[in-house]
Amino acid sequence: MNVLGIETSCDETSASVLNSDFKILSNVVLSQDEIHAPYGGVVPELASRQHLTSLSYVVQECLDRAQLKLENISAYAVTQGPGLVGSLLVGLSFAKGLAFYFSKPLIGIDHLEAHIESAFLETRKIPFPALALVVSGGHTSIFFVKKKLDYKLVGRTRDDAAGEALDKIAKFLDLGYPGGPIIDRLAEKGNSQKFTFGLPHMTDGSLDFSFSGLKTAALKLIKENKLSKRHANLFDFLASFEMAVIRALLSNLAQAIKLFKPKSLILCGGVARNKKLRHQFTEFSRKENLPSFIPSPEFCTDNAAMVASLGLVKLKSGKEPPFYLGLNAYPRIASFQPFSKQKK
Ligand code: KG4
Ligand code: ZN
Repeated sequence: MNVLGIETSCDETSASVLNSDFKILSNVVLSQDEIHAPYGGVVPELASRQHLTSLSYVVQECLDRAQLKLENISAYAVTQGPGLVGSLLVGLSFAKGLAFYFSKPLIGIDHLEAHIESAFLETRKIPFPALALVVSGGHTSIFFVKKKLDYKLVGRTRDDAAGEALDKIAKFLDLGYPGGPIIDRLAEKGNSQKFTFGLPHMTDGSLDFSFSGLKTAALKLIKENKLSKRHANLFDFLASFEMAVIRALLSNLAQAIKLFKPKSLILCGGVARNKKLRHQFTEFSRKENLPSFIPSPEFCTDNAAMVASLGLVKLKSGKEPPFYLGLNAYPRIASFQPFSKQKK
């Protein structure tokens, strides 16, 4: 059994094939960074048009690398949402066409669930229940993962996502796009204690995040200190801002651990590529006495291997309708209700 996964939720066009043992036979990711870089952010219309141009080539390349043909694919898994609707529809329509033509199962995948699944690509042995910190350009959430396919959203951002905050500050300083990896690189040269940021917290006791306050504080510091691309204190500022984002993430996770008493911790999503965050998360987990799981960097940012893997899990669960063409795209988190302390 081979599952072909397709991911087009934002600005990466990706296809991947996994066999029934969850072995990745190929995983092709085509980034659109160059297309969006002049605008300093993803332009939705350009993203969907580029998916339309690239997807068939990406799928063909994926099949070639796996030495397979479409006739060898037993099921299709495709990201349904959340994401940019135009982009999602390109992948969804493509996958529907293939599933219809070959009369094979079509499995709709939630992008955030797929990010959590990325932690299982390199190890299937993550102890449950787990808490998963999903940190990407569009989302910053904590999920309680009771077991496979059984998730509860326990906290999410009320405004900007962590990656979005990093990208926006980099854009403001004219450092380039996407800003997250650039800040990662430049912050390594700085001292994270030079600039002070407060720790955002919710007054209602929820585990939600807020990064817009941190972003505003950063913009204020940039103006007050006249910071720019070539300023001597730039690296210190970026290191301090990066650390403030990490502290905000780990502080909520610490609260969630007290409430949910997990047996392991997962870090995933594009921002999980960040070296400082990976290091701090590992240290944090060690202090909490919990095993931690972080996918290799290539599986943190958007990729179809995590989509195919979750498709395979769903297929093996036997709960999926075998052939369902009524799947539609959804832009925002649709499948999870936010957790509130009172209703635990
Ligand atoms: O998961 P992802 O590929 O797409 C979304 O689902 O949003 O995450 C993209 C985000 C962007 O905000 C990007 O700046 C950030 O991940 N990112 C990083 C790094 N690599 C990617 N942020 C910090 N450090 C990195 N090395
Ligand atoms: Zn993502």
